Amino acid sequence: MKKVLIAYWSGGGNTETMAKQVAKGAEEGGAEVTVKPVGGVTPETVKAAESLAFGCPAMGAEVLEEGEMEPFISGLSQAEVGGKPLGLFGSYDWGDGQWMRDWAERMKGMGAKVDGEGIIAQLEPDTAALSQCYELGKRLAL
Ligand SMILES: Cc1cc2nc3c(=O)[nH]c(=O)nc-3n(C[C@H](O)[C@H](O)[C@H](O)COP(=O)(O)O)c2cc1C
Repeated sequence: MKKVLIAYWSGGGNTETMAKQVAKGAEEGGAEVTVKPVGGVTPETVKAAESLAFGCPAMGAEVLEEGEMEPFISGLSQAEVGGKPLGLFGSYDWGDGQWMRDWAERMKGMGAKVDGEGIIAQLEPDTAALSQCYELGKRLAL
């Protein structure tokens, strides 16, 4: 059974809704799924997982949330994420998705096998975005 870790930060619940759909897809795909807010996730937990999904909305000026998600990502390296499938997702509002493009490049730089370009949803995820999240979960379970 594939061990899938889904770690997310969400202030208003939009990214959390996406995380739950990724989890649903991974569970229905037969994986052993851990889904939790990033505040409680250590690099060791990331290392122990076989497939990963990280979620964070666009914050600041097109950056990751700086209190928990940014320190979490800064604390990771090739040792935890190298060679692993990684799905990125998150909600945004007025931007054009720059935070996600930057995040994907950063994770590729650590050797993660980033799934596509990341899933972005403007504010509350619509059915298309939720279905993309579900399908991501299914791929991570393979
Ligand atoms: C402090 C703050 C900064 C934000 N910065 C951006 C931004 O740079 N670009 C953008 O597109 N949206 C930005 N947003 C909008 C959020 O990404 C958007 O409201 C998102 O749906 C929040 O997701 P959540 O419900 O998971 O917290 C910002 C929101 C807040 C509160």
